[in-house]
Amino acid sequence: MSKKVRKAVFPAAGLGTRFLPATKAQPKEMLPLVDKPLIQYGVEEAIQSGIKNIVVVTGRGKSAIEDHFDVNFELEYILQAKGKKDLLQLVREVSEMIDIAYVRQKEALGLGHAVLRSREIVGHEPFAVVLSDDVIDSEVPCLRQLLDIHDFFGASVVALMEVPKEQISAYGVVDAEPVDHNGAKNRLYRVRNMVEKPNAEDAPSNLAIIGRYILVPEIYQSIEAVEPGAGGEIQLTDALKHLLRNRPIYGYRFEGKRFDAGDKLGFLKATVEFALRRKDLGDSFREYLRNLKI
Ligand code: UTP
Repeated sequence: MSKKVRKAVFPAAGLGTRFLPATKAQPKEMLPLVDKPLIQYGVEEAIQSGIKNIVVVTGRGKSAIEDHFDVNFELEYILQAKGKKDLLQLVREVSEMIDIAYVRQKEALGLGHAVLRSREIVGHEPFAVVLSDDVIDSEVPCLRQLLDIHDFFGASVVALMEVPKEQISAYGVVDAEPVDHNGAKNRLYRVRNMVEKPNAEDAPSNLAIIGRYILVPEIYQSIEAVEPGAGGEIQLTDALKHLLRNRPIYGYRFEGKRFDAGDKLGFLKATVEFALRRKDLGDSFREYLRNLKI
């Protein structure tokens, strides 16, 4: 029996340089998609996948994240006094949803380094990692899809997505063989190797790793063992490659649509699609877009 995954780690200490100047004094994770900050989409995905213990890795200038998940007495008092029950419920929900802990990454030394900071809090058990700038729209939460594979095989699982050749050099890419699971061969893979940001010609496949992982605790030793890689940062992909020497890693081509909301164009696409799907905004927004006649 594999151990149950109880905790999700949210690395949120990056500098967000692709979104400057918006991210100069404001965390990227707090940019709103319609009316909810990016990180809340990830937190809700974790909750819907059965995980309520959230560990956020923060850095300098990230206090808005802590405030967002805290109780705001003054605001609640005013909303109560004005009889704005719906809004009161909205702001309360956020702080009531989860059990949250924070750990600090003093310098942005890479995603692997950020994950390592969660070691004391996570302890010796498997855990999830969610990069909240990858926003995923799916029927079954992406994390839940990965957890089902983890529960079956008791191994690490990374979320995979097919990426066109001209974009592949922006990702960690796997060399992997398909695995027949529940009679289906087209979603699950056993990872043989992986490369961080390969040239299009050297990429071992078109399957890229995106920001959802289920990791066994041995990953912490692997992160410690690897040297800084691309960009002088401690890369999680390098640690996964190290882990692969002794432990299996599965890749799951998840069902759903992923938006790279840490990138300006990806963020705009996500905003449009999420707004169109909203009951309260969708119709009037659709009409507005139609009238633009572009
Ligand atoms: P990104 O690769 O998107 O980097 O990190 P970034 O610094 O946030 O943004 P850009 O590329 O400069 O625009 C992926 C995730 O890993 C976290 C980020 O906060 C993001 O959630 N991260 C990255 C850390 O927590 N620490 C790091 O040192 C690097």
